[in-house]
Amino acid sequence: MKKLIKAAITSVNSYVPDYILDNDELASMVDTSDEWIMSRTGIKERHILKGNGKGVSYMASNAVEGLLEKSNTSPDEIGLLICGTVTADYHFPATANLICDKVGIKNAFSYDINAACSSFIYSLITASKFIETGAYNKVIVVGADKMSSIVDYSDRTTCVLFGDAAAAVLLEPTKEDVGIMDSILRSDGSGAFHLYQKAGGSVKPPSHESIDAKEHFVYQEGQPVFKFAVTKMADVSVEIMKKNNLSAEDVTWLVPHQANLRIIDATAKRMGIRKEQVMINIQKYGNTTSATIPLCLANWEQQLKKGDNLILSAFGGGFTWGSIYLKWAYNS
Ligand code: UT7
Repeated sequence: MKKLIKAAITSVNSYVPDYILDNDELASMVDTSDEWIMSRTGIKERHILKGNGKGVSYMASNAVEGLLEKSNTSPDEIGLLICGTVTADYHFPATANLICDKVGIKNAFSYDINAACSSFIYSLITASKFIETGAYNKVIVVGADKMSSIVDYSDRTTCVLFGDAAAAVLLEPTKEDVGIMDSILRSDGSGAFHLYQKAGGSVKPPSHESIDAKEHFVYQEGQPVFKFAVTKMADVSVEIMKKNNLSAEDVTWLVPHQANLRIIDATAKRMGIRKEQVMINIQKYGNTTSATIPLCLANWEQQLKKGDNLILSAFGGGFTWGSIYLKWAYNS
């Protein structure tokens, strides 16, 4: 069905903390090496948020503040803010509420969405519906994670993978032939226990035992997750191309979740697209979970042109995965 009003990204902005944790420093902390990390993941360094009392809302509000400024938007114009995150400041209230308070957004409602590494694409599609129905005119979607707060820096199998970052987009209505054209989102809870945080929720509230057992950190069975990620991200990316009659040459950019360079390469290969058509910044930031995709958009904003065909694809814990087809809405 053709949409009368589409939701278009009209601005993007990111915030990345200053401190850089590189592979050599990690090799002084755990039994690993730059060679292993680069060859298995493609990650060279990641940014880490330092400082007591600074959580996701600190990074996200910096990203949102910059977004409002560069798009000449007053906080009063925003009707809804959604924050995609797995490392919320608190279990409750929602980090989105705290972000709004920090940046002076007072006429909006706001909430968090947690779909692990797919949080941003889930949030973007949820937000787009409020625009497409005509209910709201300016909606902000943030993807932000402080993965360093749930990573065990004595576990070499996970600590090399993740970093901290936030990035935000502004969504507005358009009647032009740009904006979010289509999406496919999926989840499968039977994969939940391959990638999760064992304690801290209602099944296993925090206790001395859970802390001693290190159950408040990311737990990941790398290989099964890798297999699912390669298959599902590639399948859904090809599916959305077919559904929209897009050939490999029609795709200007693939914007993939940055979990592992080998997963990104496999997805691009299945789609039949060249490496030059793929946004890759995993070497600089690692896996920033909810922030990877908007961070790519922010990094590539200057090169993006109105009408460019973008495929956004993600895979994450849950399992969750999906693809979005959008036409870029502006020239910088
Ligand atoms: O974003 C959310 C979704 N998450 C993902 O998509 C992540 C998917 N999984 C992966 O990206 C990969 O499975 C990892 C990067 C996590 C691991 O790579 P792998 O090629 O699957 O390695 P592996 O787990 O099979 O481990 C191979 C070997 C093991 O040693 P042995 O048993 O062969 O002696 C590990 O103990 O590498 C060892 N190893 C390491 N060695 C040096 C694991 N981590 C490290 C390390 N440095 N950091």
